[in-house]
Amino acid sequence: MHINDKSNATLYTPNAHRYDSMQYNRAGKSGVLLPAIALGLWHNFGFVDRLHNAKSILRTAFDLGITHFDLANNYGPPYGSAETNFGTILKQDFKAYRDELFIATKAGYDMWPGPYGNLGSRKYLMASIDQSLQRMGLEYVDIFYHHRPDPDTPLEETMGALDSIVKQGKALYVGISNYNAKDTQKAAELLKASKTPFILNQVNYSMLDRWIEDALLDTLTQHHLGCIAFSPLAQGMLTDRYLEGIPKTSRAAKDFTYLEAETVNSNAAKIKELHAIAVNRGQKLSQMAIAWILRQPQVASVLIGASSAAQLKENVNALNHLKFTDDELSQIDRVIGR
Ligand SMILES: NC(=O)c1ccc[n+]([C@@H]2O[C@H](COP(=O)([O-])OP(=O)(O)OC[C@H]3O[C@@H](n4cnc5c(N)ncnc54)[C@H](OP(=O)(O)O)[C@@H]3O)[C@@H](O)[C@H]2O)c1
Repeated sequence: MHINDKSNATLYTPNAHRYDSMQYNRAGKSGVLLPAIALGLWHNFGFVDRLHNAKSILRTAFDLGITHFDLANNYGPPYGSAETNFGTILKQDFKAYRDELFIATKAGYDMWPGPYGNLGSRKYLMASIDQSLQRMGLEYVDIFYHHRPDPDTPLEETMGALDSIVKQGKALYVGISNYNAKDTQKAAELLKASKTPFILNQVNYSMLDRWIEDALLDTLTQHHLGCIAFSPLAQGMLTDRYLEGIPKTSRAAKDFTYLEAETVNSNAAKIKELHAIAVNRGQKLSQMAIAWILRQPQVASVLIGASSAAQLKENVNALNHLKFTDDELSQIDRVIGR
């Protein structure tokens, strides 16, 4: 790996052994294999962040066999800037490796002013994919997601837009995100009828939020769909980050994030207990949190965030110890409830 954090112009030669130790899992019953750990660009890749750090994280990820990068139209801040930065780095470092990458983007949250820049209309989604492709300098994305359910737009319209995006060659596959079991079922029926390559539901899942275990995982199995789990570390709470309070550089201490200091404090006791279980397993808490998610057969990939290459490396080492004893699982259940 050749990284010079001071210069964005340094030539990058990927690690020749990048595929030796990463595990790849099938997304549902599709032909797509995803790395067990994928990288999301929600935070740390916007214009407010340091481009050389973003570049170092992306290079480290690819060197570790991470082939899947997850974006959305509104990632930044400002909105769109994560896609623009990703496009810049892609052009400089990864152009020759486009066919080794599985790139995602989404639309569904607030993006531009007025009535057409949000939620799930055909008008919004068709414009948004064009904007995303332009920002990233891509001809197509590998998967395009509807980012969240829209209660007021007919699902037929939203799913129809996803189908059109595939037919126009702008995405190879489609997915949904934050859809519950019932809406996933309806989406699956519509997309099956139109023969649209629908493969994934991207959902929040961690030791601090087990909602998908109630019904969604079964629905995914019934429809041969895969799951990709986002915020697996509960935005950093399921790591060493907050064991001694709230560091100034952490997400919970920053503006414009969705992790409140109050949430960290209210989970502090649980986090300490989970940390003790991880230590007994000979693992970091972050690594145990990732391994715990990968025990679900529907989960093709755990979608992490990282503010440094070192965090990313630590997290990928979760793959060295994925098995749990029944006793460890019941200790975890006792702490987090089930
Ligand atoms: N579909 C959706 O609606 C949706 C919503 C949210 C996220 N996502 C996707 O999921 C991705 C991941 O979400 P997330 O960033 O919330 O995931 P996460 O993995 O739960 O949290 C990542 C954050 O935890 C901290 N961290 C990570 N590894 C650490 C380590 N080893 N030690 C200490 N701290 C560590 C870092 O925060 P610090 O800044 O404190 O270092 C890092 O930015 C996003 O980028 C996005 O692609 C999708």
